[in-house]
Amino acid sequence: MKIRKIKKNKQTCDVGDWLYSDTVKDHFFKPQNLLLDEAGYEADGLGIVGSPACGDMMAVWIKIGEGNRISECKWRTFGCASAIASTSMMSVIATEKGGMLLERAKRLTPEYIIERLGGLPDRKYHCSVLGHMALREAIKDFETNHGRNKKNKI
Ligand code: FES
Repeated sequence: MKIRKIKKNKQTCDVGDWLYSDTVKDHFFKPQNLLLDEAGYEADGLGIVGSPACGDMMAVWIKIGEGNRISECKWRTFGCASAIASTSMMSVIATEKGGMLLERAKRLTPEYIIERLGGLPDRKYHCSVLGHMALREAIKDFETNHGRNKKNKI
């Protein structure tokens, strides 16, 4: 069988720039804290954002526990592998070590998420902002409503 070589031109990507770390692949193939069906899930805050760059959507649901810490962080996206891996990692960071304080979670950066993923291709940076933006929206939603209206609808 003859393997056709892909020639580089303006229409093709240089695959060398698209290498993903093992951590990215792990979070893409086994996403953490994914919420496939929000029916019956009562969150304290819900954040929804979309990316103007590619039209993808992200939803994040949070529960707030003792001392204003994030006790649960669930999410779902219609996005690419980088968006899935970034948001999975964001949800782990937000809930590890007893849960992130809300004030600290508001300052979580895409750069830190990318660092924890072992890097992302430069052109995929915009995919990593969706999760943390949706997290900020969910925190804003919680602070506005103080969990009065339990959320589960997108
Ligand atoms: S290309 Fe749209 S989120 Fe990655």
